[in-house]
Amino acid sequence: MRPFVAVARSGMKKRFFHSPRLLGNKRNNQKKGRFRMKNLALDAFFQKMEADGMALAFKDVRLKSGYSQVLPPEVSVRTQFSRKVTLNSPVVSAAMDTVTESTMAIAMAKAGGIGVIHRKFATPAQQAEEVERVKLYLNAIISKPICVYEDDTIETIESLREEKMYSFQSFPVLNRQGRLIGLLTRNDFDLCQNVCLPAREAMTQKLITAPVGTTLVQAYALMIKEKKKVLPITDTEGKVTGMYIFSDVKRVMEGNSQSYNIDSAGHLRVAAAIGTGDSALGRATLLANASVDVIVIDTAHGDSKPVFETLKEIKRAFPDIDVVVGNVSEGASAKRLVDAGADGIKVGQGSGSICTTRMVAGIGCPQVTAIYNCAKAIQDSGVPVCADGGIEYSGDITVAIGAGAHSVMLGNLLAGTEETPGEIITIDDMRYKHYRGMGSLGVMIESRESRNRYGQTNLGKDKLVPEGVEGAVPCKGPVEKSLYQYVGGLRSGMGYVGARTIEELQEKADFYRISSAGLAESHPHNIRIVKDAPNY
Ligand code: XMP
Repeated sequence: MRPFVAVARSGMKKRFFHSPRLLGNKRNNQKKGRFRMKNLALDAFFQKMEADGMALAFKDVRLKSGYSQVLPPEVSVRTQFSRKVTLNSPVVSAAMDTVTESTMAIAMAKAGGIGVIHRKFATPAQQAEEVERVKLYLNAIISKPICVYEDDTIETIESLREEKMYSFQSFPVLNRQGRLIGLLTRNDFDLCQNVCLPAREAMTQKLITAPVGTTLVQAYALMIKEKKKVLPITDTEGKVTGMYIFSDVKRVMEGNSQSYNIDSAGHLRVAAAIGTGDSALGRATLLANASVDVIVIDTAHGDSKPVFETLKEIKRAFPDIDVVVGNVSEGASAKRLVDAGADGIKVGQGSGSICTTRMVAGIGCPQVTAIYNCAKAIQDSGVPVCADGGIEYSGDITVAIGAGAHSVMLGNLLAGTEETPGEIITIDDMRYKHYRGMGSLGVMIESRESRNRYGQTNLGKDKLVPEGVEGAVPCKGPVEKSLYQYVGGLRSGMGYVGARTIEELQEKADFYRISSAGLAESHPHNIRIVKDAPNY
């Protein structure tokens, strides 16, 4: 067992923040091309399986190894979650109340992936606040800094700070024409002897500015060169359009920030789940105002009328925000959603570790075949596939991507980590955290949004038909450590296949259909394991 580490929600610095929409809208727009799985061997494999009437789960297949010039540390695991939103690591955390709130989403984006904030909060506003917390975490550029006028007194500004609970002390000072003439800093406040002075008499006049379009890297270099901790960005008329704060810029530039999944304004990326029906647009509006990067229409049956209606409505209202839609498990369903404007498809019906959909409803395609069929059906569209549910080992991530997925959504493998919501419980001297299906009875009773996910919004609490179970998983320590192992396994797999990139893995992947003897042989055998491995 991993050593127990107490659950602690990371202390997020709450800085007053204005929506970064201005700059945030300039999303990374790379890779407009189409995905093309030129993989005849894979096509032949799945055609044969189909001819035999066979649909395959993770345990049914393993990838063939091949000639390789690639070492695991050399591979690139960069990929896409949706048309415009890239990932530096193909792992996405599930929109579940026992998995993803802001703490997990921050950790996911720092590891290069993305978290999907669940929608089972008491109010949509609370979900939007969680999104905002993620966007605030790396407040590298403030796109609408709070400014003061030159004739505002220090006393007035101090009381404004108190009233609004601003934690910062850097204010650009404007003349009444709205042009920047100076800067009030912590020093100016601390050293001011007379609070009745107007800002123009207390402010620092010697300041540096940079033009619109100054990047984080340029700002960092300039601030170091000029020894300034605040860098206002001004347009050609001298009006303030943004401001860099050194401590935040430094945080992004240093440490592991190269792998962080950040938007064009330097904020961590985050996604959030919505449902269907009347309330969906209102929720999406709050999320958009909080600068969410991706909206995920999160339902048990993505190929259904309410989902198409919601997709249309959301795309009309927010054409710049990518919308990932799910869940589906048939190629035709994926194609219909892409034709209707989806920017990403989430695949998986009944594959999750807490799902009972297949047993309760009797539907659902085993996950590897579902991924292949959906990816194949939309291969020319430029829309990526996220394989959601059923991943038990890191090797399944390699398999999912080999079958055509661009990213994987994890619930169980992330549950029990320190960053998940919920308390630690002790059972037989072992530490666990709750992990439960969003369609489990407990969640359905508590949440209209959960009932909506399963098309049972208006059913009474004694009439619900759950499609998930409630349970507990062992505590796993910091999620960063788990993610390292999961992505490490993928890297190894790519090395065995000889694939330098995710696209190459999709192009080179070929499978063996394995027997139950093959599966037994794949696990350790004839040994009593006396020491836990960190990845098995
Ligand atoms: P894993 O296998 O990673 O799966 O635990 C997580 C995914 O399972 C889906 N999910 C559910 N599916 N009933 C279902 O049929 C449920 O109660 C339920 N809750 C979550 C979801 O897609 C998640 O990402």
